[in-house]
Order: sequence, then structure tokens, then C-alpha cells
Amino acid sequence: MKVLLVGTGAREHILAEQLSKSASLYSIMPKKHPGIASLSEEFLVHDPTDSSVVGQWAKSKGIDVVFVSPDGLLAQGVTDTFADLGIPCASPLKKAAMIEWDKGYARNLMRAKEISGCPIIKIVSTLDDAKEAISEIGEVAIKPIGLTGGKGVKISGEHLNSEQEILDYCSELIKKDGNVLIEERLDGEEFTLQAFCDGSTLALMPPVQDHKRAFEHDEGPNTGGMGSYSTGKLLPFLEQKDMDEAKEIMQKTLTEMKNEGNSFTGILYGQFMLTKNGIKVIEFNARFGDPEAMNVLALLKTQLSEVFLSMAEGKLIPVSFSNNCTVVKYLVPEGYPIEGKADQPISIDKEGLWNSGTKLYFGSVYEKGETIYTTPSRTAAIVAQAETLEDAEKAAEDAMSFVKGPLWHRKDIGTKDLIKRRMEHVRRLKA
Ligand code: AMP
Ligand code: GLY
Repeated sequence: MKVLLVGTGAREHILAEQLSKSASLYSIMPKKHPGIASLSEEFLVHDPTDSSVVGQWAKSKGIDVVFVSPDGLLAQGVTDTFADLGIPCASPLKKAAMIEWDKGYARNLMRAKEISGCPIIKIVSTLDDAKEAISEIGEVAIKPIGLTGGKGVKISGEHLNSEQEILDYCSELIKKDGNVLIEERLDGEEFTLQAFCDGSTLALMPPVQDHKRAFEHDEGPNTGGMGSYSTGKLLPFLEQKDMDEAKEIMQKTLTEMKNEGNSFTGILYGQFMLTKNGIKVIEFNARFGDPEAMNVLALLKTQLSEVFLSMAEGKLIPVSFSNNCTVVKYLVPEGYPIEGKADQPISIDKEGLWNSGTKLYFGSVYEKGETIYTTPSRTAAIVAQAETLEDAEKAAEDAMSFVKGPLWHRKDIGTKDLIKRRMEHVRRLKA
């Protein structure tokens, strides 16, 4: 089977590794990614949105199934380029990816179809309406409608400390986008649930908890995600009924999208929050999470190429995972996320890594000669798995010494202390 992967990053690096196990991998990337390139039978370094060039390239290679990975490319309709040429696609068309790139679409679908888990929301396009919404709702989360790389949401009491600051941010977004999403501020523990979808049915992956804040103890600015952990079928603070509720929300969303003629094939990503009033939806994405993809794909037992082909054909096969615990920690350049130091050489002790049983996936890096250099974004992710979370965390932490360069990471992800705080938070909420 010939599979085409479009996009680069650590998430795509593990996708490439999984796909190349059972298929010939072809890849298209805007800049050469050393990890994906080395796993590919052939690769094309070209702008993926240049539809005539990438479409013809895929056609000429006789590709059996395509997977377009990153949100930006999905929002620009890169899947549609291949679908229009009759190539089976395991990623969503632009219109279906709207579940991510238009938060208004997602929220309105939830309200119209009575899908549970929707917070109180208002979409407004004037400052007067924003004022009214804020006085009705109270504590709020202010969100741009479109894609922002996970960095556009601001929360009252956290990032916005007075009514004036809230209104100023609403005004900034209205000027830029024409509207703004104002949501009730929720309190709870967040978790990610990802599912393979074939338009009608879904196969869930193990739940994961990501860490968006830059610094230990969840402090500092939001990032693309500093790391994540997973403990098999449930997270330590979840009960089976929470998972069932989240699954039902995802299944209903998939069904209602199909009913309105906007069938979703691809990875549906639910960002959920367990609150004192049950499960709430923070957002949907139309792709794997980064880093969450690495937690689940490390455990995948079914061949990913077979899963993708079955999704594209609308006949999803059963998907199984091993039950291990996983910890992913991102190494990021000094200065990240405000101003990550670019063009710094890094070196990797490949043998040490190999012997440790951990894996490294490159994020945003480039290669000159034999040397790998940083960019301002996340550099590389270390993935460790073990029967216990404690062992996985220790393995990930120990593996950091095999990567040298001006990089740092969050040391608390997956630790006993952090899990204890998560569980206490949920206990307090439920009390
Ligand atoms: P998003 O880009 O929608 O995933 O939001 C980024 C982060 O903002 C989430 O991971 C949450 O931590 C936080 N957030 C988003 N919506 C809300 C909300 N309604 N209440 C509280 N926090 C939120
Ligand atoms: N880790 C969060 C995301 O991929 O959106």
C-alpha cells in the first residue's frame, strides 16, 4: 500500500513511523523534516497548498490513501485537492474540518442538535452586545472564532483582570475577525479524547491529559502543549461513566454532521473538561493533538495504514491499543514560547536513546549538513512507555540527558505530585 502523509512536526514524525511499518510512505512537507524524510520512500518539499503540483505528484505516485495532518492545511482545503482527483482520503474535507476552524459552527451545531456538554455561549459582533453577554454570563472565556495555534483563548481572572481588559480583548477580536465567542468560564480537569472516524462510526483512542501552560505547576503563558501523559483506558481522575459521556458526545457530533450532509472522515479530537456539572466540551479539533498523538500512537496495535484506508472507504476496522502508560515531554528552545531561540545546534545520543527504550520525534527543526538546528517552536518530543506511570515518567526524564543543546522542558508532567493535585482538584469539585 502507498500512503501519503502531508505535514511536518513531532506528531507527523510518529505518524510517519507508524505508517512506514506496513506501507510505503510518501510525504509532502513545506520544509524538509529530517525524521519524516528518512522514513519516506519518496518525499516532496513543496507548499502543500499548491494544489496543482501536489495533486499531480500524488497522482503520479499511485497513492492509495492520503492523510493531511495539521489544522492549518485542513482549513485551507488540502484534503479536497486529493479528494477532487479521486484519491481516497483519511482526513476531513475543508467543510468538515470547520468543526475546528470555525468555533461558531461547532457551538451552533451542539446547541441546534442538543448535544450535551455545551457551556453557555454567545457569539457577538458589537461591543454593546459583548458588554451585555458578559454581564449575563459573569466569569468568561473569550475566544477567537478561527484557528490561533492554541494561543488565542483568554480567561477572566487569569489573563484578563478587569471588565475593561475583557472588553478591550473583545474589541480587538471584533476588529480583526468581525465577531467573538464569549463563553461561560468553566472550572475542572481537562482531558483529550481522540477517535478514528469514517463518517458514521468512531474508534476511540485512550484518553490523554495535555499541559498547555509553559511552566511547572501550570503557570505562565499558553503553549502548543508542553507534554502529556496517558494511563491506558482511563485517566486517574476519570470514571468509566465520564468516558461514556464523552464518547456519546463525540458519536452524536459525528452523526449530526453526517445528517446535515457534512460527513466527517478523519481524527475527531474532543477537548473535554470534567466539571462539577459533568462533562463539558472545551473544543473540537479535526486532527490528532500534538503532543497527544504520541501518547496513543505509541500504543497502537492495529496497522495505521489499514486503519486509514478503512476510514477513507467508510468501513472503519476495529482498532486496538496496548494498555501501557505513556509520558511525552517536549524539549523547547530557550525563550520559548515568547521568543524561542532559533538556529541553535542540538546533538542527540542515538545509541543512548535506543538503549533507554524511549523514542525521540523531531518537532520544528532543520538540518544543515549533519547538524540539526532549532527554530522558535517546540524542538523535539521524548516518548516513554511502561507498565506504570512512575516508570514511564522516570524513563522520559532520564532520556533528556541524551539530547544536548540550549533546550528546556517541564519536569512535572506525569509525576506523582502532579497526578495527586489533579485528583485532589476533582475531589474538591465533586464535594
Ligand atoms: P482552546 O484553544 O479552545 O482549546 O482553549 C485553550 C485553553 O483555554 C483550554 O485548554 C482551556 O484550558 C482554556 N479554556 C477554553 N475554554 C474555556 C472555558 N469555557 N472555561 C475555562 N477555560 C477554558
Ligand atoms: N495539544 C493541543 C492541540 O493539539 O490542540
